[in-house]
Amino acid sequence: MPKFDNMKRITILGSTGSIGTKTLSVIRDFRDQFRVVGLSTFANLSLLKEQIEEFRPPAVAIVDTTKVNDGRALARQFQIRALFGIEGLIELASEIETDLLVVATVGSVGLLPTLRAIEKGISIALANKEVLVTAGQLVMRAVEQHRSQIIPIDSEHNAIFQCLQGNDRNAIRRIILTASGGPFRTSSKEEIEKATLEETLQHPTWAMGPKITVDSATLMNKGFEVIEGHHLFGVDIHNIEVVIHPESIIHSMVEFVDGSILAQLAPPDMYLPIQNALTYPRRCPTNLPSLDLMEVSKLTFFAPDFSRFPCLQYAYNAAVKGGTMPAVLNAANEVAVNRYLRKEIGFSQVPEIISHVMAEHSVGDAASLEEIQTADAWAREKAQHYE
Ligand SMILES: NC(=O)c1ccc[n+]([C@@H]2O[C@H](COP(=O)([O-])OP(=O)(O)OC[C@H]3O[C@@H](n4cnc5c(N)ncnc54)[C@H](OP(=O)(O)O)[C@@H]3O)[C@@H](O)[C@H]2O)c1
Repeated sequence: MPKFDNMKRITILGSTGSIGTKTLSVIRDFRDQFRVVGLSTFANLSLLKEQIEEFRPPAVAIVDTTKVNDGRALARQFQIRALFGIEGLIELASEIETDLLVVATVGSVGLLPTLRAIEKGISIALANKEVLVTAGQLVMRAVEQHRSQIIPIDSEHNAIFQCLQGNDRNAIRRIILTASGGPFRTSSKEEIEKATLEETLQHPTWAMGPKITVDSATLMNKGFEVIEGHHLFGVDIHNIEVVIHPESIIHSMVEFVDGSILAQLAPPDMYLPIQNALTYPRRCPTNLPSLDLMEVSKLTFFAPDFSRFPCLQYAYNAAVKGGTMPAVLNAANEVAVNRYLRKEIGFSQVPEIISHVMAEHSVGDAASLEEIQTADAWAREKAQHYE
């Protein structure tokens, strides 16, 4: 859609998910600043229909190809374009004129659309961290080559992004990623092993989609964020630390070479990092409540326990190995978490599967997309058939 005003044109991949719907709630509150030009879902056509009715995007993508007939009917009803399958998602991301692509899909499925958009020089607001875990080097190289940019939506990386404004990235000594600790922060190893799916899905501070909620319970989510931070900010893995901070008030910190630590604080609500990514480089007033420090009263910090949460260690190991190993870590995790969500395996088998698949992998240098995709497919197959 051509630009005929000063509004920022936004496309959202995964608009029917937790981040996608929150992004639309930010847009709803700033209607004079943003225009939605593309939306996508895997299969949730009823929510997509409501979103089309409200935001009138000229194009949508529906990835589940069993929904083609219903999708075409929807497109006819609203006289918009409907694109289908992963090719449709890639086309929506890279061929529709847009100023900012919000990547809020889940898993490595976001990689190709993000990469193609970057190659067109489109700016990315990234929630879908698996994109950087799978192919961080390749993606960041493309960002540089095509003069694109990635503005992080993940609250931790958005916090770091904010702390770095006006500061020299070469002066970073250390990044401190905060973690709520998830629902099993104080549980024993035995209790964690017996945890039901319902218990796993009860996150203490954040309401999120099912996959990231499981990743938060295993701390794999924090491990992914270590890898994401390494690529986004060019900081050595050994200089990225994780600190358990159950209040989820400090969203992360940067220590500079002079010993100063800058932190970003706010009540835990994804609205704020999403708004920051959408309005960047401007800051706009919100209706979010101010943080009441007297009410918070106390902020606490603990070291993560790698023996109860081995996934965090696996993520560090994968990052240190480098090459195709992070893609394998991610793919094995995606399959294991899906199997857990389908109740095929128990909670403790999630790390077991990942560790097994990583141990079997011969690491390649991840120089090409094809090599990464081959490693990803190999790991999925292994993780699917592990008993
Ligand atoms: N939720 C949070 O608070 C949060 C915070 C920080 C980072 N993140 C990251 O943001 C990403 C999205 O998380 P979320 O919690 O919003 O997930 P979610 O609620 O599960 O939503 C995922 C979105 O992606 C779509 N989708 C699912 N599988 C797909 C596929 N194979 N192909 C194309 N589209 C697909 C879904 O469509 P359907 O609706 O049809 O399933 C939905 O629109 C994740 O990478 C997560 O780690 C999330």
